[in-house]
Amino acid sequence: MSRAHSLDAAEMQRAALLADAVAGLSAPRKTLPCKWLYDEEGARLFEAITRLPEYYPTRTEMRILDEAGEDIGRRVGPGASVVEFGPGDGIKAVQLLQALASPEAYLPVDIAPEWLDAAAARVARAFPGLRVQPVVADFSQALDLSDRAGPRALGFFPGSTIGNFEPADAVAFLRRVRGALGANARLLLGADLVKEPKVLEAAYDDGAGVTAAFNLNLLARLNAEADANFALDAFRHRAIWNAAKERIEMHLVSMADQSVRLAGRVFRFAPGETIHTESSHKYRPEALRSLAEAAGWQVAEMWTDSAAQFSVWLLEASSATSRTD
Ligand code: AVI
Repeated sequence: MSRAHSLDAAEMQRAALLADAVAGLSAPRKTLPCKWLYDEEGARLFEAITRLPEYYPTRTEMRILDEAGEDIGRRVGPGASVVEFGPGDGIKAVQLLQALASPEAYLPVDIAPEWLDAAAARVARAFPGLRVQPVVADFSQALDLSDRAGPRALGFFPGSTIGNFEPADAVAFLRRVRGALGANARLLLGADLVKEPKVLEAAYDDGAGVTAAFNLNLLARLNAEADANFALDAFRHRAIWNAAKERIEMHLVSMADQSVRLAGRVFRFAPGETIHTESSHKYRPEALRSLAEAAGWQVAEMWTDSAAQFSVWLLEASSATSRTD
C-alpha cells in the first residue's frame, strides 16, 4: 500500500471516529460504537482480557474446539477453505486447521491490512504449503469471496463476536457471510450462552481492572484522536447485566457534573450519567438457532462444554435461500 493511500485511510478512519463520537454523545442516552475500543492499546488490553481468570469465553471455546476437534474434522470433511472474519492473532484458526483433513486454504478477512499480518504469519508458519491469502475487505458491506474460497468454503467467526452486534445487525451479518461464501457454504460460529449474572458481571468487571482499563482507553483514544479533553479519573467502568435483552452492557459512568470538549463542541454529563460503550449478547440455544435460520443458515451441529458456558455451531447454507439474499 502506498504512503498516500495509507494516509487517506487514516484520515478517513479519524473522520469516522469523530462523526460517531459526535452523534453518540449527542444522543439522549449517550453511546459510542464498540468497534472504536480497538486501537493498538485496546487490542493489547483485549488480548490481556482473554487470559483473565474471570473471562471464561476464550479458554472455554478453545477447549470445545479441542475436545470436538475430531468430530468437527469429520463433519467438515477434506479440502475446506477456512475464511475467518476478524482473525485476531490467528491462534484459533491454527487450532481449527489442525482438526481438518487436508485443508485447501486459509483466508483471513479484515478491513485493516495490518491486522491480517499476525494471523497470516502464524498460520503460514504452522502449515507450510497451505494457501494463505489475506483479504482486505469491510465485512459490514456485501462482498463475494466465493471465487477465492472455492466450492468448500468454511466461514469461521469464533469468540462470540456475533454477540457484540444488535440482534438485527447479527442477522444481517450472518446473511452477508452466507452471500459471500457461495452456495455450499458452511460456517463455524462461536456464541456465548446465557448464565448466572454473577459470573457474567465478573467476566466483564475483573478484579485486576483490565476490563476497566480497556473501557476507559476509549476516552484516552478520543483525547488523542478526536481533540477531546476527557478527565479519565472522572469516569468509572461499569458492567451491567440487562436481563430483558440478555446482554452484558459496558458503560462509562460520569462521577461528577462535568463538561467535556470534543472536536470544538461541548458535551455535558450529569453525575451518574453513562456512556454505553458495548453490548455483549448471550444466547439461549433456541435463540441462536432462530437467529441463524433468519439469516439463511440451518444448524448441522452444536457443541458445548460440560458446564454449558459456551457453544460452537456448525451451520450450513440452507437451500431455501438464494445467494443474493
Ligand atoms: C470481542 N468480544 C467478543 C468481547 C466480548 O466478550 O464481548 C469484547 C469484550 N468486552 C469486554 N470484555 C471482552
